Amino acid sequence: MYHLDGQIAIITGAAGGIGRAIAMRLSLEGATVVAADLDGKAAQGLIQEIVGEERRGLALQTNVADEKDVERMFEESRGNFGPIDILVNNAGMGTVGLMIDHSLEDWEKSMSVNLKGTFLCSRAAAKEMIARKRGRMINIASIGGKEGEEFIGGYCASKFGVIGLTQAMAKELGRYHITVNAVCPGYIWTPMWEKMAVWFQQNVPALANKSPREIFDARVKSVTPLRRPQTAEDIAALVAFLASEEAKNISGQAINVDGGARMH
Ligand SMILES: NC(=O)c1ccc[n+]([C@@H]2O[C@H](COP(=O)([O-])OP(=O)(O)OC[C@H]3O[C@@H](n4cnc5c(N)ncnc54)[C@H](O)[C@@H]3O)[C@@H](O)[C@H]2O)c1
Repeated sequence: MYHLDGQIAIITGAAGGIGRAIAMRLSLEGATVVAADLDGKAAQGLIQEIVGEERRGLALQTNVADEKDVERMFEESRGNFGPIDILVNNAGMGTVGLMIDHSLEDWEKSMSVNLKGTFLCSRAAAKEMIARKRGRMINIASIGGKEGEEFIGGYCASKFGVIGLTQAMAKELGRYHITVNAVCPGYIWTPMWEKMAVWFQQNVPALANKSPREIFDARVKSVTPLRRPQTAEDIAALVAFLASEEAKNISGQAINVDGGARMH
């Protein structure tokens, strides 16, 4: 256990596969959880579970790619619980397709949610954290932010950007005792991956007779030394550690949780 009692944590994309596990883990560690998600109803369901177990939390329907919405979300969180201690930039989405066929709209979707959303939330959080000279920012990037992959070029570019932003903000905020790190998940079966696998099934003839889950499992086996997918709870465990006092001297890092698929 990492003992985050009394700390306030905002988790974006908290209603999704990985975000939900992060919210649950930080809540179990004692943090008050603000679940910010485009899907306000699902975020509300998560918070009802947390509050039902006598822990504190708040759901806020938020579009992280919208500056005004992000400002309102931080104001509401502060109004309810005071300034935040932990920000987890987890909201994300993937667009699939060869770069040559990629529409500008798809390119802008990945950039606006994954990169602009991380920037907007980090900027808002930094203002609260600098004033108190404390804070933890954890950005959920991807192993796609370490090495480009065919078919997900726009997504990879956005996640490279997230790692660059992580490093720059770690340098700018270190003097205020704020750490900024990225976690790079490998392969986790969530709605995001399922959507990608459906695209592969429909667009790559060699995969047409495989189910989305078979496509995912084959990919994991072929690239992962441990030959198994990771779980959302694996990611949540590293997030909880990075949010804790034990991680006070770790900053500017992008740490893979991927069964060894990437070693850099
Ligand atoms: N699943 C994987 O294998 C994997 C691998 C590497 C990185 N990641 C990253 O992990 C994070 C979580 O992904 P996931 O697999 O849980 O996906 P998911 O689709 O299950 O969850 C994503 C969540 O983000 C929310 N969201 C999307 N756009 C938003 C916006 N504009 N504002 C606020 N919320 C928004 C969605 O409503 C959803 O609840 C993403 O950043 C993703 O890129 C996932």
